[in-house]
Amino acid sequence: MADLEHLDTIISLCKKRGFIFQSSEIYGGLAATYDYGPLGVELKRNIRDAWWKAMTQKHDNVEGIDAAILMHPKTWEASGHVDSFNDPMIDDKQSKMRYRADTLIEGYIMKLRDKGKEDEANRVQGLLDTAGSRNGLAKDLFDIIIEEEIRSPDSGAFDWTDVRQFNLMFKTQFGSISSDEDDSAVYLRPETAQGIFVNFTNVQQTSRQQVPFGIAQIGKAFRNEIVARQFVFRMREFEQMEMQYFVEPGTDEDNFENWKAERLAWHKSIGIREKNLRFADHPEDKLAHYAKGATDIQFKYPIGWQEIEGIHNRTDFDLSQHQEFSGKKQEYFDPHTQKRYIPYVIETSVGLDRTILMTLCDAYREEETETANGKTEKRTVLKLHPKLAPVTVGIMPLIKKDELQDIAHKLKAELSEFFKVQYDEKGSVGKRYRRFDEGGTPFCVTVDFDGLEDQTVTVRDRDTMEQDRVALSEVENYIREKIKTWKPED
Ligand code: GAP
Repeated sequence: MADLEHLDTIISLCKKRGFIFQSSEIYGGLAATYDYGPLGVELKRNIRDAWWKAMTQKHDNVEGIDAAILMHPKTWEASGHVDSFNDPMIDDKQSKMRYRADTLIEGYIMKLRDKGKEDEANRVQGLLDTAGSRNGLAKDLFDIIIEEEIRSPDSGAFDWTDVRQFNLMFKTQFGSISSDEDDSAVYLRPETAQGIFVNFTNVQQTSRQQVPFGIAQIGKAFRNEIVARQFVFRMREFEQMEMQYFVEPGTDEDNFENWKAERLAWHKSIGIREKNLRFADHPEDKLAHYAKGATDIQFKYPIGWQEIEGIHNRTDFDLSQHQEFSGKKQEYFDPHTQKRYIPYVIETSVGLDRTILMTLCDAYREEETETANGKTEKRTVLKLHPKLAPVTVGIMPLIKKDELQDIAHKLKAELSEFFKVQYDEKGSVGKRYRRFDEGGTPFCVTVDFDGLEDQTVTVRDRDTMEQDRVALSEVENYIREKIKTWKPED
């Protein structure tokens, strides 16, 4: 049994089975934007629902909102995005390729390590770690690239532009276009969080929640990522699931620890194997200026350990900034202690698209199986948590015969009230199983001639390939029970 080794394997399966397509593919695609196909959209909805339920249904003190993507431009001045949401970029003048300067240096360090030059690698890593502390980040990164004679990974040239800071926000025009472009400029939000902060008092007052309480939101975010070559891991249009938990200052550290534990547990609850998850705390000297604590939950993607979710103690930075820029009080009055204060915020922020990629990578297996005539063949299977699977039940008549088809159609209609069900009568039973395995369908129900006699069907388990004979009237309960008790393999 083999796990996934290369991202390309998942990219082709996603295309073949209709999970994810390149956006505007017939026109040659649009870089770092993707469309979800029939299976992808179901998986996405199921993950969204699992997160929403974990936040708003299982916590009485977490409310949901759905804020607009376009926000008043002052929002992004207050949040700091206008001034400091930048990436340091450098261009190879010969190939015209653009790189993130820090990533370029990290790649160079990795190469040194691969060649066994540990001391050299540690020395350059030291330079990278202290970059930005003296002259400004762009100048420091440029100096490292020049002094170390780092060459372009694609062309091999050593012909660089300066390092320049690029703002990652997409700008667009709002309303009638004025002669002065900047008067009507608005941004596509680069994170959903600000829609929550600016609604803090609206939600608190209308829901009558008392601190501590949270606001959860799922929605699109846009970033003009310069280096975006990793499928849905880094996109220019993506979806975030964010929750801001408003707490009394002084209780922030305990709340931060609680949310860390709870969020890791959530990733396991959607079937991700423990061995592929870990925390990566941000060292104190690398924290954003507003943050008191920050940790990432990382997943072991085929491209290495990477951030799937950020958990941050953002202090009272955001609400204080919005209070200052809007002139509107963002305080909370505690009726028990009679104290008035600006709450601290513990933020949990997870990318929906990265979660989709994580579930696909974690679930992917290639296995050797035995066919009916004793030969071995390879099967590709997505061992997704059944509650996330795009199609929960595949129903098929053993062969195309009226009496089998009738029962299969009737069962499909019944089960469709509760699950996403797909009817399939095309090709051999073996071929149909393979299709369902590749799409991650956990249960395949076959209607055969034995069942006509005693009103039973066989239900095949995707993971073990074992088959149970189940009474027609019991199929729904049988599947429910299996979903409830499902556990990932080690
Ligand atoms: N409000 C905090 C915030 O936005 P972030 O670390 O920039 O923090 C949070 O983003 C999460 O959003 C990340 O952990 C990642 O899962 C997802 N994300 C960020 N940029 C992304 C991109 N370009 N493509 C896909 N997902 C992205």
